[in-house]
Order: sequence, then structure tokens, then C-alpha cells
Amino acid sequence: MKRSIIDILDLSTQELEELIATAEDIIADPDKYAHACDRKKLATLFFEPSTRTRMSFEAAMYELGGHVISVSSAMSSSAAKGESVADTAKTVSCYADIIAMRHPKEGAAYVAATNATIPVINAGDGGHCHPTQTLADLLTIWREKRRFEGLTIGLCGDLKFGRTVHSLINAMSRYNGNRFVLISPEELKVPSYVKKGSLKKFGIPYTQTTDLEAAMPELDILYMTRVQRERFFNEEDYLRLKDSYILTPDKLKNAKPDLAILHPLPRVNEISVAIDDDPRACYFKQVLNGKYMRMALILKLLKEAGTI
Ligand code: NCD
Repeated sequence: MKRSIIDILDLSTQELEELIATAEDIIADPDKYAHACDRKKLATLFFEPSTRTRMSFEAAMYELGGHVISVSSAMSSSAAKGESVADTAKTVSCYADIIAMRHPKEGAAYVAATNATIPVINAGDGGHCHPTQTLADLLTIWREKRRFEGLTIGLCGDLKFGRTVHSLINAMSRYNGNRFVLISPEELKVPSYVKKGSLKKFGIPYTQTTDLEAAMPELDILYMTRVQRERFFNEEDYLRLKDSYILTPDKLKNAKPDLAILHPLPRVNEISVAIDDDPRACYFKQVLNGKYMRMALILKLLKEAGTI
């Protein structure tokens, strides 16, 4: 049966574990998967800028033996002529076996999924969610910590517009014993719909603070994010808030020796390059992990749809 992934909560915790197991198996024996999607096509529809997510999906499909067709920007597609997301989804269903779509509007991937006859993967819908980044985050946490429970997770930066933050909160709220420290300027706090939908719903303890250094000693994971310039209503506010948090080596002096520092990237100023060689910096491993998890997800959805 055709199934789409719009939100990380569309996958059960058991399915997440299965995806991680598949990704680990791909890492151990990539040749076994080299023809798993022979002659199948992934369509990447990216109506917003992307480097990692799009290339990661494309590399994932190639490594599964499949092909990629794509629309690289709204301006070069019929969206520029006024075509609806629904019509685009119906059209692309005639050419491809699976769609990965990024769009500036919240809910666009859902509209695509309800109109496509093939699986749709949300590669980011406005400030809402970004489930496959969370798959990358989860594999990284798993490989660093070997557990999803009993972790103190600091999320720092733009927690209002940062869709990767929303999806990660949703994902980690389903495990026992986790605690969140939400570090942001007042104006960029986690939206209440996210708190209600997961933190409060699952009774997960959390604190909100503006002070990264004070929070540092208790953190097992520090997830830094960029201030999402494109979602601001005015440039002045962006300029005022953009450098609210800059992680430098001296700010890590009270951090745990096994802290895992994650960032969905792109980085602007939030993490000094001097941290890149610190063994606690995991953000480039996270990029690679994203490709393996996207391979696992493409495989799962194409199998469920009976395409492979
Ligand atoms: C993120 C996104 O697009 O939401 N990037 C990504 O996919 N890795 C984070 C960001 O743009 O800040």
C-alpha cells in the first residue's frame, strides 16, 4: 500500500528502530543494496533552497541502483505558472515511483501526499517539520549514545521556525527518561503547538532558558540551529537575533566529555569552525548518516507500495 511520510510521528518507534537496523546493514554491506531499486525513479521536488537534503536523497537513490528526476526550483517549474501542489503531485506520479518534496508552505507535503498515487516524503515544509533530518539525527544519536532513553537534550537557537527541532522533539518525546533544555531568545521559543503535541502530551520534563553556558554541564546532546532568516517577517529582527548563540571552544569547558554536538546544517555562525576537530562534533557524521537513513526509508516505502 502506498504510504507517505509527512511527520516523524508517521513512523512508530518500532519502525524507527527497523530503519536504523537497515541503515546499519547498508553501512556494513552497501553492495547488498546496490541493485535494490534498479530502474526505479525518485523525483526530487525542491521549491526551497537545499544542498544536503536534496543531494542526500539523490545519492541515496543512486546507491540503491535507482534513478533521479528533479525540479530544482519553483521558478523553473510550472509552479511559476501557477500550478497547484496537488496538480504537480498528480503529474509527477506519472513519471516517478517516489517523491521527495520541500516546500516553503507548511502542509504542502501533506497536500502532495493526498494527491499523489506514489509515496511522498516530506523534505521540509515551511517551519513545520522535516522528518528525514530527524532520521539523520536519530542515527547519529544512536551511533554516539547507543540509546534513545535517559538523555538530556539541549536544543539551541531558532526553536520557533526551526522545523528540524520540532521533528526531533516529537521523535525523542516518545522515549522514556529524556529531558529537554530549550535554549533560545524569548522571541524564538518552541511554538506551543509543538509543546502540546509532544512534550506535554507525553509528560516530558523540559526547561526553557536563554543561557547556553548555564545549561551546558548537564547536556548529553547539544543540538545547535541556525536562525531561519527566510521565515522572518522583517530583516531587522533577523539581524538582532542572528548571532544570539555562537558555540566556541571556551563555552564547552564545562560540557560533558561525551557530549554529542549536532547541527542539521547549514551552519552560519552558530558553531565556530574551531570546534570541528573536537571529537564531540558530530555534524558532518550526521550528514552521512542522513544518506543511509534516506536509503532505508526509500527501500521501506517502495517495498510497502509493492514497487520493489
Ligand atoms: C535544515 C532545514 O532545511 O530545515 N537543513 C537541512 O535540511 N539539513 C536546517 C536549516 O536550514 O537551518
